[in-house]
Amino acid sequence: MIPIILDVDTGVDDALALGLALTARELSVMAVTTVAGNVDLEQTTRNSRRVLDWLGAAAVPVAAGASRPLLRPHSDARPSHGPDGLGGASLPTRQSGPILDATAPEVIVRTARRYAGRLRVVCLGPLTNVAMAVRLEPRLPVLIERLVVMGGAFAVSGNVTPVAEFNVWSDPEAASIVIEAGFDAVWVGLDVTTIIRLTRVEWERLARLPHATARLVYEVSRWAFEECRVESYALHDPLAVAVAARPELVAGERARLAVMTSPEEKRGQTLYVPDTNATDVVATKVDAEAFLRLFRNSLGLADGNERVTARSAVDAP
Ligand code: BDR
Ligand code: CA
Repeated sequence: MIPIILDVDTGVDDALALGLALTARELSVMAVTTVAGNVDLEQTTRNSRRVLDWLGAAAVPVAAGASRPLLRPHSDARPSHGPDGLGGASLPTRQSGPILDATAPEVIVRTARRYAGRLRVVCLGPLTNVAMAVRLEPRLPVLIERLVVMGGAFAVSGNVTPVAEFNVWSDPEAASIVIEAGFDAVWVGLDVTTIIRLTRVEWERLARLPHATARLVYEVSRWAFEECRVESYALHDPLAVAVAARPELVAGERARLAVMTSPEEKRGQTLYVPDTNATDVVATKVDAEAFLRLFRNSLGLADGNERVTARSAVDAP
């Protein structure tokens, strides 16, 4: 199994990504690290713990990280994720598992050293923690096997501004540091994530399924379907987890990347120049059917599925 860290700003789609990571048979979640993004740091940490507890994965250690971007104030995304970040999901608020004393960047570095050359870090929020981890350990790009980043809008429009995607826009300086560090990285941006959607029809069907994973998907999706009244919504973060498990789900192009940090109207814009020698890969195509099969099978979302068991690390980093 592939050891992974999930760096999250939980968040509706982060919650689903946690569920997928805990149930996909290819992956073993060594730790969850949290960052301010969709909601504030305290809430992203609380939400992550709630999801882990709900899925019976309380043993997975959680470490809190940056409470704001490197150089800017924090701006949340509550209109899309609800006031509590989990769309008001009725999941228990009990949080039994450990919150580590170490910070998220420290845990990323420590785990990268421990699983040198094998660890995949899946970045599902602003890149602040990873940028701070690079400052702590400049050899991080060599220690980590691969970063999978949900971030960027390369050949498509943004979702916060016409040119920028939320995670990169939130902390463009951190994204620049991560790019300049030279990780082997796959960028799973809006170019591919907006194609992957949970539909209202599928969501309504989940109401009949009693087990914990289906309840998670149903409950956290309430906000989108009942409050925002959308007919489908994009599974951004679950796709990045799926790519960590099965890289062949996306096809991409090697490219040199840059992130605009100013002027304000270009903040967070991701620029790329194809270059076969580059260490970054921009995902340009996705096998949506294969993703949905993995998502449904791992989370037990097909009718008549038995209870799905979450897998988790047995020992803390
Ligand atoms: C990204 O922004 C957040 O709101 C989502 O959780 C996802 O990580 C999509 O732009
Ligand atoms: Ca996220």
